[in-house]
Amino acid sequence: MPAKTRIVAVVVSATAVLAGGVSWQWLAGGNAPWARFLGTAAAPLAFASSDTCAQCHPAETKLWRMSQHKQAMDHATDTSVLGDFNEAGFDYYGVHSRFFRKEGKFFVETDGSDGKLATFEVKYTFGVDPLQQYLIEFPDGRLQALSIAWDSRPKAQGGQRWFHLYPNEEIKHDDVLHWTKLNQNWNFMCAECHSTSVRKNYDAANDRFATSFAEISVGCEACHGQGSRHVAWARSQQSWFGKTEEPAKGLLVRFDERRDVVWRIDSKTGNAQRNFTPALVRREVETCGRCHARRGEFSEDWVPGRWLSDTHVVSPLARGLYHADGQMLDEVYNYGSFKQSKMFAAGVTCGDCHEPHAAKLRAPGDGVCLQCHTADKYAAATHHHHEAASPPLACASCHMPERTYMVVDRRHDHSFRVPRPDLSAKLGTPNTCNDCHRDKTAEWAASAIERWHGPNRKGLQNYAEAFHAAWTGHSDAAALLGKIAADPSVPSFARASAMTELAPWLSPANIGLAQAGLSDPDPMVRIGALDMLANVSAAQLWPLVSPLLSDSNRGVRIRAAALLAAVPTASQSASSARRPNSSRPNVSMRIGRRRARRSEISMRAAVSLRKRRPSTRPHCGSVRNSRRRRSTSPISIANSAAMAREKACCVRRSPHHRGMLGCIMRSAWR
Ligand code: HEC
Ligand code: HEC
Ligand code: HEC
Ligand code: HEC
Ligand code: HEC
Ligand code: HEC
Ligand code: HEC
Ligand code: HEC
Repeated sequence: MPAKTRIVAVVVSATAVLAGGVSWQWLAGGNAPWARFLGTAAAPLAFASSDTCAQCHPAETKLWRMSQHKQAMDHATDTSVLGDFNEAGFDYYGVHSRFFRKEGKFFVETDGSDGKLATFEVKYTFGVDPLQQYLIEFPDGRLQALSIAWDSRPKAQGGQRWFHLYPNEEIKHDDVLHWTKLNQNWNFMCAECHSTSVRKNYDAANDRFATSFAEISVGCEACHGQGSRHVAWARSQQSWFGKTEEPAKGLLVRFDERRDVVWRIDSKTGNAQRNFTPALVRREVETCGRCHARRGEFSEDWVPGRWLSDTHVVSPLARGLYHADGQMLDEVYNYGSFKQSKMFAAGVTCGDCHEPHAAKLRAPGDGVCLQCHTADKYAAATHHHHEAASPPLACASCHMPERTYMVVDRRHDHSFRVPRPDLSAKLGTPNTCNDCHRDKTAEWAASAIERWHGPNRKGLQNYAEAFHAAWTGHSDAAALLGKIAADPSVPSFARASAMTELAPWLSPANIGLAQAGLSDPDPMVRIGALDMLANVSAAQLWPLVSPLLSDSNRGVRIRAAALLAAVPTASQSASSARRPNSSRPNVSMRIGRRRARRSEISMRAAVSLRKRRPSTRPHCGSVRNSRRRRSTSPISIANSAAMAREKACCVRRSPHHRGMLGCIMRSAWR
C-alpha cells in the first residue's frame, strides 16, 4: 500500500473513533459538508464506476469505450452478440446444436450435463475478437461457458462461423472439459479477469454461488482500483470549503512510472537508454499481470500496483507451461514472458508499447519498436538480411514468435528474445526462423545467423540448458540450475524458477543459494527459495524459514507457513492440499495427465486458498485487529513486532502439534 493511502486508512479509523456516536454512513456519505472538510479521508473506499470517471476524464473514456477491455463481458443484446443465432446449426461428434432467437432473447439447443439435448438461454457474451464465447446461467448461481464459440474474424480469414474449442477430441457430457463441468465454470475459472472486482461468494454448505462484480467488464477501476476517495478529492477541489492537499489525489496507485522518463538513443548501440533507474516494484506491470499472467488467485483483496505475489501464486517457468529456454508453450499470457526480457530489466513497461485505455499499440507496426531502436541499425538489411522477403518482415516476426490458443487466437511471445536456432539444434526448443522456414533445418538457420552476425550469440536469456537438464533428469541439472539461480544478471523470474527446480537437488553445497534467495528483494525469488527448501529436515527448517512468516508479502508468508505446516508428517501436507477450495473438489488430484486448460492449481495455491476465518484465532493473538499489511511505516513496524510475538506465542502454545500449524497459517494470512 503506498504510504499515502496507508495514512489515509489510519485517518479514516481515527476519524471513526472521534466521530463516536455520529453515524458513520452519514459522515461518509460525501454529501455532508463534514465530508468535504475532512476531505478524501472521510470517503469510504468503494468502486465509483466507469460512468462516474467518465464525467471528468472524457479522453481516456473515449479510448476505453472502443477497447476490448470494455467488451470483455457483456449482457447478451443485439449489439453485443456477434454470433449467428438465426437457426444456425453446428455438428460435433454426433451432437447437433442449434442457435436461435425467441422474443428478443438468444438460445442454444445443445447437450446438457446428462448428455441429452436441451435448450438454454444465453445470458452473457464473453470476449469479442477473434472469438466470442457465451455464458449460460444455472439456477444455483453458476455460469457456464459454452465450448462452441463464434469465430469473429472476417470471412476471408476463415471466420464468421461456429466452431468447437476442442475440435479434435470428443468431449462427452461426463468429461471434466464438458461445458457444464467445473473447468468451464465462469465463477471460478473465468470471472476474475473479465470483470472488475469479482467476489466469488461460494456457499460451500449449499454448493451455490452468489458471485458479484463491481462492473461487468474491465472498467477504469480494474486497473486504477477503487476510485471513491479520488472522486471525493476531485469534488473537494471544486468545493467552497477549500481544497484537500493530497499528493496521491485519493488514488490507490499512481501510474506515474512513465512520467519524466526519457529514452535517449545511444548512437553507438542504436538502442535507447532510460534516463533513470526504474523502481523495484513495477506497478503497472504488476497491475496488468493480474489478468495477463498465468497464476492462481488466493486472495480477493488485490490492490493495484502491489506485487502480484501478494494475492496470487504466479506460475514459474515450469515444464508444460514454458519451453526450456523460456518461450511460451501453454497459454501463459504476457507477464511471465515479459519479466524474462532484457527490456523489462532496462525499465520498459507495458505502457511504453500499449496505450492502456484503448489497449492498442502506441504506433503501428515497427513504429512501436523504433521509438527506442534506430531504424538505421535495425530496420535495415544489415540487421535482418531479408530485403528480398515479401511481405517485408516486421521486428515482431523475428522477436515475438506467434502461437495460437483457443483454436484461432494468435498471441505473441513477450520475452523479446533473439532467435536461437542453435538451441533448437541442441535441445529441441522452437525458434522463429523455422516457424517460417519449415522445410529447412535448425542447423541451416543457425548457420545463416552465424554468417550474418558472427559466432557469438547475443541475448539475455541463457538458461535453456539448465531447465532442459532439469526436465530430462540429466546429471548436470543441479550444477547448471545453481549457476542460473546465483547469477544476478539472470531475470529474477528465471532465478526463482531455477530455485523451485532445485528442490530435489538440495545439498550442503547449494543450500547457501536458498538462504541468499530468502532475502532477495523480489518476492518470487523468496518463494522460489522456500520451494527449494521443501525437503529440508524439520530441525533445519524452522530457523531458516520462520523469519519469513512476517515477510512483507502475503504470498511469501503463506508459502513459508505451508512449508512449516508440511514438515511434521507427509500425510498432513496432503490433507491440507485437499481441503481448501471447496468449490473445486479433488482439484489437486485431477491434475493428472490430461490436465485441462487453466485447471492447473498447484499445491501451493491449494494450501493458500484456505478461507480466512479470523474469529477462530487462538486468544493469544495480540494482533487481532491489525490486519494491515506490513511495510516500513511506524504502524506496520508495530504490526510486525506483534506478528513476531504471535509467532512466539504459536510456538509456546503448541510447539509440536497441529495447533501450532493452524496458528501459523492464520498469522500468515494477514
Ligand atoms: C469530479 C471530477 C473527477 C472524477 C469524477 C474523477 N476524476 Fe480523476 N482526476 C480529476 C482531476 C481534477 C485530476 C487531476 C488532474 C491533474 O492533476 O492534472 C484527476 C486525475 C486522475 C488521474 C491521474 C492521477 C495522477 O497520477 O496524477 C487518474 C489516473 C484518474 N484521475 C483516474 C480517475 C478514475 C479511475 C476515476 C473514476 C473512479 C476518476 N478519475 C474520476 C477529476 C476527476
Ligand atoms: C481485470 C483484468 C485485466 C487487467 C487488469 C488488464 N487486462 Fe488487458 N485484457 C483483459 C481481458 C479479459 C482481455 C480480453 C478482452 C476481450 O477479448 O474482450 C484483455 C485484452 C488486452 C489486450 C488485447 C487487446 C486487443 O485489441 O487485442 C491488450 C493489449 C491488453 N489487454 C493490455 C493490457 C495492459 C497493458 C494492462 C495493464 C495496463 C491490462 N491489459 C490490464 C483483462 C485485463
Ligand atoms: C488469468 C486471467 C484470465 C482468465 C482466468 C480467463 N481469461 Fe479469457 N482472456 C484473458 C485475457 C488477458 C485475454 C486476452 C488475451 C490476449 O489477447 O492475449 C482473454 C481472452 C479471452 C477470449 C478471446 C477473446 C480475445 O479477445 O482474445 C475468450 C473467448 C475468453 N478469454 C474466454 C475465457 C473463458 C471462457 C475463461 C474461463 C474458462 C477465461 N477466459 C478465463 C484473461 C483471462
Ligand atoms: C487496462 C488498465 C487501465 C484501464 C482499464 C484504465 N486505465 Fe487509466 N491509466 C492506466 C495506466 C497504465 C495509466 C498510465 C498511462 C501512462 O503511463 O501513460 C493510466 C493513466 C490514466 C490517467 C492519467 C493520464 C495522464 O495523462 O496523466 C487518467 C486520467 C486515467 N488513466 C483515467 C482512466 C479512466 C477514466 C478510465 C476508464 C474510462 C481508465 N483510466 C481505465 C491504466 C488503465
Ligand atoms: C521504450 C523503449 C523500447 C521500446 C519501445 C522497444 N525496446 Fe527493445 N529494448 C529497449 C532497451 C532499453 C533494450 C536493452 C538494450 C541494451 O541495453 O542492450 C532493448 C532490447 C531489445 C532486444 C534485445 C534483447 C536481448 O535479449 O538482447 C530486442 C530483441 C528488442 N529490444 C526488440 C524490440 C522490439 C521487437 C520492439 C517492438 C515491439 C522493441 N524492442 C521496443 C528498449 C525498447
Ligand atoms: C529476420 C529476423 C529479424 C528481424 C526481422 C529483426 N531482427 Fe533483430 N535480431 C535478429 C537476430 C538473429 C538477432 C541476434 C543477432 C545475434 O545473435 O548476434 C537480433 C538481435 C536484435 C537486437 C539485439 C542486438 C544487440 O546488439 O544486442 C535488437 C535490439 C533487435 N534485434 C531489434 C530489432 C528490431 C527493432 C527490429 C525491427 C526493426 C528487428 N530487430 C528485426 C533477427 C531479426
Ligand atoms: C516492446 C513493446 C511491447 C511491450 C513492452 C509489451 N507489448 Fe504487448 N504487444 C506488443 C506487440 C508488438 C504486440 C502484437 C500486436 C499486434 O500485432 O497487433 C503485442 C500484443 C499484446 C497482446 C495481444 C495478444 C498477443 O499476444 O498478440 C496483449 C494482450 C499484450 N500485448 C499485453 C501486454 C502486456 C500485459 C504487457 C506488459 C506485461 C505488454 N503487452 C508489453 C508489444 C509490446
Ligand atoms: C515471417 C517469416 C520469416 C521469418 C520469421 C524468417 N524468414 Fe527467412 N525468409 C523468409 C522469406 C519470405 C524469404 C524470402 C523468400 C525465400 O527465399 O524463401 C526468406 C529468406 C531467407 C534466406 C535466404 C533464402 C535462402 O533460401 O537462402 C535465409 C538464409 C533466411 N531467410 C534465414 C532466416 C533466418 C536465419 C531467420 C531467423 C533469424 C529467418 N529467415 C526468419 C521468411 C522468413
